[in-house]
Parts: sequence; C-alpha cells; structure tokens
Amino acid sequence: MNILAIESSCDETAAAVVKDGREVLSNIVNTQIAEHTKYGGVVPEIASRRHVENISYVAREALREAGASMADVDAVAVTYAPGLIGALLVGVNFAKGAAYAHGKPLIPVHHIRSHVAANYIAHPDLRPPFIALIASGSHSHIVLVTDYTKYKILGRTRDDAAGEAFDKAARVLGLPYPGGVHIDRLSREGNAAAIKFPRVHFKDAPYDFSFSGVKTSVINYAHTLSQRGEEMNRADVAASFSDAVTGILSENVTKAALSAGVGRVVMAGGVCANSVLRGKLEAAAKKHSFELFMPPIPLCTDNAAMVGSQAYYEYKSGKRADLTLNGKSAESIE
Ligand code: KG4
Ligand code: ZN
Repeated sequence: MNILAIESSCDETAAAVVKDGREVLSNIVNTQIAEHTKYGGVVPEIASRRHVENISYVAREALREAGASMADVDAVAVTYAPGLIGALLVGVNFAKGAAYAHGKPLIPVHHIRSHVAANYIAHPDLRPPFIALIASGSHSHIVLVTDYTKYKILGRTRDDAAGEAFDKAARVLGLPYPGGVHIDRLSREGNAAAIKFPRVHFKDAPYDFSFSGVKTSVINYAHTLSQRGEEMNRADVAASFSDAVTGILSENVTKAALSAGVGRVVMAGGVCANSVLRGKLEAAAKKHSFELFMPPIPLCTDNAAMVGSQAYYEYKSGKRADLTLNGKSAESIE
C-alpha cells in the first residue's frame, strides 16, 4: 500500500511516499529554519505563508522522486495535530483536496505518534510493545506503546519541553535558532562537570520531567557573570547544561523500562538527535540489557516519511477522516 504523506505542523513543509509503513520511496523536506533564525524562533504567520507557497511543489517532488503518480497512491495521510494551527491547516487542506480530487481515503496522523514511527522505518524488525522516550521542541513524554495505535503516557514534562530548554539555553549562549544542535556541537569542547545545574525528580511521579529550573539556572548563571564583568566559558555551560537535561531524560526512561519490564526502548523527536543523550542511553541499554532503537538523525526531526509510516498502521486499525477534518493545536497521543 502506497501512502502520500504530508507534514506541516511547524516550520518544515514535507511530503513523502511510503510503502506498507516501512519502505520510504521518497522523502522531501523543505525547511524554513534559515528564515525563522532571524527572529530567534518560529514566527507562526511566516510558517503558514511559506507552507502555502511550498506545499504543492514539495508534494509533486515526493511523487516524482518515488516515480509515482496519484494513480499509484492508495491513500493520502496528513499531520492534523498537535502543532501551530495555521501551519497544520495548510497541510490538512492540501491533503483533503488531494484525497477528494483523486478519490483516495484520507488518514489523519498525530504528529508525536509519527515521531515514534520514524523507528519503524529505521528498524524493520521493530514491533510494539516498547517504551518510547519522546523529546521534541514542544513535547517530552515517556510512553508505553502497547500496539501501533495504543499508547499509555507514563510521564510527561510539567513545564518546558526538553527541546524548548535547549533552544532557550542556546539563546543565552548567543547560538542561532534552533539551538539544540549548536549546543550539542559546543558541548563537545566543554567540561560537563564544570557547573552543577539542577536536576529535578518527582518522588510521586518518577517518570515526569521539569526543565524550567535548569533553563532558568542557565539564564541566571549568564546574568551573574555578565554583572560581575566575568567571561563565561560557553562550552562548559553547554556541556553542563546538556549533561543535566540528558541525565534527567535517560534516567527516567531507564527507570520506566525497568519497571515496565519491557526490554525495548525507542527514542523519538528532535532532541533524540543529541549525541550526549544517545551516548547515555546506549550505556544504559548495555548496563541494564535492554534493546535500544533510535532513528538516524534526519528522521529524528520533522519529516513526512514518519507520517507515512504511522499512517499505514492507523489505516489498518480503521482510522479514516472525511472532508470535515480540522487541524488541532493540542491533542493527546493516547
Ligand atoms: O521534533 P522536532 O523536529 O520538532 C518538534 O516537533 O518540536 O524537534 C525540534 C527540537 C528543537 O528544540 C531542536 O533544538 C531540538 O529538537 N534538537 C536538538 C538537537 N537537534 C534538534 N536538541 C539537542 N541536540 C540536538 N542535536
Ligand atoms: Zn516534531
């Protein structure tokens, strides 16, 4: 089954053709990062406008690269939630138009579910159940995935998402948006033990996260040094900050995996591109003998191949949308 998948939830306009949920025939991503960098973050109105300008071209490219026409496509899938509402609506309306014009079923896909599905592409033998650590620019969750479309949230952030904390800390260090990848690079030159940033754990909710404290600590640290007229060692801050955030993420997901007795852990979302986090989870997997799955870096951040993968399983479970489908800025993964 060939699915044409569309993704426009944030600042990437993306389209892909995916066969049977696992085989990527094409994967086109048009990123707007260079434009949003000027403003230090995504400007929703600009994102929506660029999606409108790019989406037809990106979808056509996806078909061309797959060597397919709409006649070869069995269904159209689209990210409908969560995300920036104006951005989502561009993809949703485009997909509705394509499905209606060509008489194809329309499959609505949850963005965070699709981040998890990036692993089905990278690891053909991976099947639920597993524990998933989902860490992106707007979400931080630990989820028990019992089946392709069945999720139970075990833990979540109580304030900022991990990626949000990375992006704010990067701003303090004078690094461009989105800052996660720049902190990742800079941290390799620093000493992770140089500064003790707070690591919050909750006794009553061992899988929950809080990142606002560590984010505020970085801001205060930079402020104090600048008031004293002292030079900040940016690499040490980047390394110590990364160590704190990735420590919380990896410790909590390890606890969840051990307590759930599920021998498989899956990483998903943009922050899972982080080299320190990948290293820590690899070490934890070795120590506690669980299998670890992570997508290659280009499949960690937003793309439509992951949407096409998840869409296949949504379709098989009977999920369909009609032309009343709407975008939703917030929606639980469960
Ligand atoms: O999943 P994603 O592409 O978009 C959302 O759905 O939010 O995640 C984007 C987030 C940004 O906050 C970005 O800074 C972060 O992922 N990110 C990273 C790295 N690469 C991307 N954070 C830490 N280290 C990285 N290497
Ligand atoms: Zn995303």
